[in-house]
Amino acid sequence: MGGLKPDQIILALDVDTSEEALSWAKRFRGKIGTFKIGLQLYLRSGVEVLSGLQKLEVPIFLDLKFHDIPNTVGQAVRAVAPWKPRFLTVHASGGEEMMAAAVSHAAKETHVLGVTLLTSLSEEAVRAVGWHSGVDGAVRNLSTLAKKAGLAGVVCSPHEAKSERLVWGEKGEVVTPGVRPKGSKEDDQARSKTPREALLDGASRIVLGRPILKAANPEAVLESILAEESIPIHENKKSDHIEKRGPK
Ligand code: C5P
Repeated sequence: MGGLKPDQIILALDVDTSEEALSWAKRFRGKIGTFKIGLQLYLRSGVEVLSGLQKLEVPIFLDLKFHDIPNTVGQAVRAVAPWKPRFLTVHASGGEEMMAAAVSHAAKETHVLGVTLLTSLSEEAVRAVGWHSGVDGAVRNLSTLAKKAGLAGVVCSPHEAKSERLVWGEKGEVVTPGVRPKGSKEDDQARSKTPREALLDGASRIVLGRPILKAANPEAVLESILAEESIPIHENKKSDHIEKRGPK
């Protein structure tokens, strides 16, 4: 495998203001394939960021993980369709009808991705909410259901990339956060894989936030990821993200 391609990388814009988000997007436009907006940013300045990113003509990943009755999710997807996001997420546990409603209301350029089980859920936590098939069984059921509903793929742990690739076939999207370049701090991504490992295991794209956002030299980090080299990465900050699911 050669180096990574910019389009295989998604930058998680986990910042508080639209100014910061847009300045990251300007800085890495053309060098990173897609820019991801999560709840943190969306709830503060969603419309501003979306319109700024649209003006910059960069591909948008709207990671709001919709989960509601089919009609409500369908209408929520319709509400964001004018922004023409390249990707948007729904919880696969909302069921086949809900996922199908999302697909049918999405803009034609949007790939709807399913979140199977959050990687913050441990085996014990999954069983405690009544998923008696455990993590593996639940992930398998949910991704099969997501495929049946017409989704374009899933967001999952790099540890699930191999099995998800089998479900989705060659063309499906298998998007993995929880990746850390060699030499980078783990933060709270306790079971991370490197970008290269995730892609070799079948991921189509990787999501990166802090390894770039908190880097002393973000451009150098990106370059090293694209070249798959190993350099010291970043000054780490305390974080609030919890990754619990154990290795397979
Ligand atoms: O900073 P870091 O690279 O850990 O950011 C990862 C991004 O991927 C964050 O936006 C986080 O919310 C998201 N994510 C994750 N693990 C999941 C699902 C999403 O880290 N299981």
